[in-house]
Amino acid sequence: MIQRPLAHVAGLGVFVPEQVVTNRDFEARLETSDQWIVERTGIRERRYAAPGETVATMAQGAANQALDRAGLTAKDLGALIVATATPDRIVPSTGCYLQALIGAHRAAAFDLSAACSGFIYGLTVAEGLIVSGQARHVLVVGGEKLTCITDREDRSTAILFGDGAGAVVLSAGAPEGRGLLSSFIKSDGRLADLLYVPGGGTADPISARVVEQRSHFMKMAGREVFKHAVLTMVEACDEAVRRAGVRPEEIDLLIPHQANIRIIDATAKHAAIPPEKVVVTVDRYGNTSAASIPMALAHAEATGRLKRGMLVLLVAFGAGFTWGASVIRW
Ligand code: COA
Repeated sequence: MIQRPLAHVAGLGVFVPEQVVTNRDFEARLETSDQWIVERTGIRERRYAAPGETVATMAQGAANQALDRAGLTAKDLGALIVATATPDRIVPSTGCYLQALIGAHRAAAFDLSAACSGFIYGLTVAEGLIVSGQARHVLVVGGEKLTCITDREDRSTAILFGDGAGAVVLSAGAPEGRGLLSSFIKSDGRLADLLYVPGGGTADPISARVVEQRSHFMKMAGREVFKHAVLTMVEACDEAVRRAGVRPEEIDLLIPHQANIRIIDATAKHAAIPPEKVVVTVDRYGNTSAASIPMALAHAEATGRLKRGMLVLLVAFGAGFTWGASVIRW
């Protein structure tokens, strides 16, 4: 059996767009209320990228911070992964745009499509690249501009999503026993159409009809998604904790994907993690998909809750459906 940890988080960075959109801003346009949104989702505000900001430029901000804090430069990177559901273009990858922006000229750059679970998938792939000797340092970014695929006229989804980016540098080795203790990733493509963007891809390319039907925007069966989110995140927590060889009560901090406070609460409860150990940022950022976990990590660190040596459990769920969890000695 492989003895972990074999790779550790050497640096963490974040980019939070400036524009704040509050629930009140929706009240003016949609049949909704601040009270409904807070009660059903826990969201109070979210951030929107400025028109000139792309996933690559937001990722650049997060990446430069993560590299700085790791004491590395972009030239040290052997690989660079951008986990995103909202790539800047269909071709080429946002990873390649980011590579050029930060000057990571020695890296293999690519995108990873696992929706909200993308960051956990990214960590798992990055660890594999390190263990197989492909790279010593891998940048893993979660970056999203979800406002571009969100229908602002659909009250059931418009209120949920925001933009942003977060990044870590995963490096070979385990100083003081720190690093990735376990990962678990899984998916079920039979449930794809419960949360998807029907049009605008190659199955139904962009056309006047697609635009008229608004099928280039996200469609979601909210209640179904909710149910599966809790079931799968609980499975992922249990499995990652078991694989790490630790007990749930040893977990210092749970950083769940930030989709809905009720999903977060139910997951924590079933995973036997008390509320004071749970990091919540959904109130301030909404759901930023692949960016939500690294943004929450950065928030926890900035507010003094995430400290070196802590045992941290990350867990996510997303379109696909995809899900996964990791235990990290921080
Ligand atoms: N404001 C006011 N009413 C709204 C509303 C809004 N923004 N959005 C939906 N409603 C209405 C619905 O139209 C429905 O009205 P009806 O009963 O007259 O048909 C009613 O509220 C209840 O809708 P429902 O979908 O059952 O509400 P819910 O309690 O399930 O909450 C979500 C809706 C979307 C908040 C919830 O299902 C959810 O969070 N699902 C998971 C979504 C998610 O996390 N997706 C990303 C996964 S990574």
